[in-house]
Amino acid sequence: MSIFIIEHLEPELYPWCIIEYKSISKIVGRENLIFTNVAQKDVKKLSGYGLVFIKSVKKMKLKNTCVLDPEAKTQLNPKDKADYFIFGGILGDDPPRKRTGVELTKFIPNAKQRNIGKQQLSTDNAVFTVNKIINEHKYLKDLKFQDSVEIKKNKIESFILPYRYNLANGRPFICKELIEFLKKKKNF
Ligand SMILES: C[S@@+](CC[C@H](N)C(=O)[O-])C[C@H]1O[C@@H](n2cnc3c(N)ncnc32)[C@H](O)[C@@H]1O
Repeated sequence: MSIFIIEHLEPELYPWCIIEYKSISKIVGRENLIFTNVAQKDVKKLSGYGLVFIKSVKKMKLKNTCVLDPEAKTQLNPKDKADYFIFGGILGDDPPRKRTGVELTKFIPNAKQRNIGKQQLSTDNAVFTVNKIINEHKYLKDLKFQDSVEIKKNKIESFILPYRYNLANGRPFICKELIEFLKKKKNF
């Protein structure tokens, strides 16, 4: 099994990041997951979910790597092989600011670069998709997605998450903990 690496690129380890990273650990298993570029003070918060490094993946000189970047020219397919699949630990932004390329891809010039479509997925949905393609040998065209998810806060208010979500058993793949977190959130 390939190792999945999440290079944390947000200025803080926000609760939203922790919820997504926990969800990723459930998808690929903590033994197959590495977090890099994590502040010393936050190491313990993630150590239950995977191996945690303060060092950035950009300085690790790993071989046989593949970076997942929405701006990559080539689409990932089940024949792609890599020892490490690297993702940006970046929260979604609308419109996308192309942070993956600027903050990650360009620093790992020897890595393969692959997209999983042009639409922006959350990091856990990107991992879900890559896991389906690489470990379950599915083609992207055979996976089902929903663009944008609405979360009802109460009878009047709702949030729209304008990202692409996998459909798992006909429902968008979004963990319950994130839904509860968003419902309690005052500002969005
Ligand atoms: C929420 S996305 C952040 C994307 C960021 N807004 C940008 O424009 O680069 C978090 C991570 O999931 C992965 N990802 C999301 N959608 C992707 C796609 N369509 N193709 C490849 N990787 C994707 C990338 O590794 C990305 O850094």
